[in-house]
Amino acid sequence: MLDTLLHINEESTGEIDKTQIERLFVDLLLAGNDTTSATLEWAMTELLYNPEVLSKAKAELKQIIGKGNAVVESDIDRLPYLQAIVKETFRLHPPVPPLLPRKAGADVEIQGFTVPKGAQVLVNIWAIGRDDSIWENPNSFKPDRFMGSEIDVKGRNFELIPFGAGRRMCPGLPLALRMLHLMLGSLIHTFDWKVEGGFKTREIYFEEKFGLTLQKAKPLRAIPIMV
Ligand code: HEM
Repeated sequence: MLDTLLHINEESTGEIDKTQIERLFVDLLLAGNDTTSATLEWAMTELLYNPEVLSKAKAELKQIIGKGNAVVESDIDRLPYLQAIVKETFRLHPPVPPLLPRKAGADVEIQGFTVPKGAQVLVNIWAIGRDDSIWENPNSFKPDRFMGSEIDVKGRNFELIPFGAGRRMCPGLPLALRMLHLMLGSLIHTFDWKVEGGFKTREIYFEEKFGLTLQKAKPLRAIPIMV
């Protein structure tokens, strides 16, 4: 991509200059790196803490991909349980935390409250994901809730909006989803995993650290075992 943009710049069509190229790459690297890696780490933590979910995911991969074969992008559509695991991870651990800013374009009334034109509205994605009026047992990691469900993360279902929604929603969604399924599928299909020292208490492994992205306070340390 950099090569192509530099090429366009050298042709001096005035479409993009070097400063714009630099800023674009800073944006992409900042927005794309920690978000994806934090989600992967949360997904692995949930899977290691919920071994019955991990076994089910492994069984699906074994059946669809076959032992010894690598997971490739075109397999993702055929792995509904893996997709459900990624959605469930986003529900409990949305990496862009947790308040999405918006500005009311006009006076609006929502559930008896008037939000005046121009007010800043902060949408709490994290709280929506754990709302017990929307989700049954909201604090449990249960990917099965998404099996056969129409809910996805593409901004159409407001109960699950880890990438935001509307015109400002995340432009990296297609890349992030492809990478996450591919990496997570590959990690669990290729290796068995053991948590270093074993799980002690849920609190230690699920403690959050607030920052630009919602990271784990204590990194997951897991040992891969070749299968
Ligand atoms: C798990 C992965 C990711 C998640 C959960 C995520 C989530 C988000 C969210 C919630 C927003 C704000 C959207 C809104 O206001 O409605 C956003 C914006 C953005 N994301 Fe992502 N993102 C991810 C990965 C990526 C990747 C891989 C890229 C690019 C390589 C990327 C690029 C951007 C950019 C450029 C914006 C700003 C868009 C704008 O304000 O116009 N993101 N992302």
